[in-house]
Amino acid sequence: MIITIDGPAAAGKGTLASKLALKYNLAYFDTGMVYRAVGLEMLLAQNSLEDVEKAEKLAQSLTFPRMIELSKNPDFRSLEGSKAASSVAAMPGVRSALLLMQQNFSQNPVFADGSKADGAIYDGRDTGTVICPHADIKFFVTASPEVRAMRRFKEYESKGQKADYNEVLEQTIERDARDYAREGSQPAQDAIHFDTSDMSIEEVFEKACKIIENR
Ligand code: C5P
Repeated sequence: MIITIDGPAAAGKGTLASKLALKYNLAYFDTGMVYRAVGLEMLLAQNSLEDVEKAEKLAQSLTFPRMIELSKNPDFRSLEGSKAASSVAAMPGVRSALLLMQQNFSQNPVFADGSKADGAIYDGRDTGTVICPHADIKFFVTASPEVRAMRRFKEYESKGQKADYNEVLEQTIERDARDYAREGSQPAQDAIHFDTSDMSIEEVFEKACKIIENR
């Protein structure tokens, strides 16, 4: 079984994907990680975020182990790291260099320890449209920018990272504009939509489980 969950930043995709992965024995691919990894490589190399050629080269040489290693860096999910990820994700050459790595995961989904999973669950922006257009079930999860910015702000606070709510809101709106301007980031026509602004994660999870079991 292949499930995709797309939608804007901090809409609740990751939490839902982790819970579904656990319940249905699915290997989870958080596809934002590939862009965060390339963005962080750009920051570490002190490259300009406008340097398309360097970003493409880094995307072409990205491996799973390197991505996992980079994910341990505090800047992987910081405000600066998120901005870098969103900048490189806007480069078509970077996207195409990272396409196969994401698609191949669904051919042989395995857990981190190498054991076989019963399928894969993806979360991202284009997983139901570009990465896995033939997925069995596609969800599109969203929430208002204010609710999403507040979630991210609390996340930064809980990690002891400095953040200002208005800055996080501004960045959320900027990232939405960049992420939704490109092809493939609109909801798949056959996606099931959830607006999580006024829903608890348990409600979203229960709804998603019902849909999966009805299929
Ligand atoms: O989901 P996350 O916030 O970790 O994604 C980081 C950035 O990666 C997003 O802002 C978006 O620009 C990009 N992204 C993407 N396509 C995906 C997943 C993430 O363009 N499938």
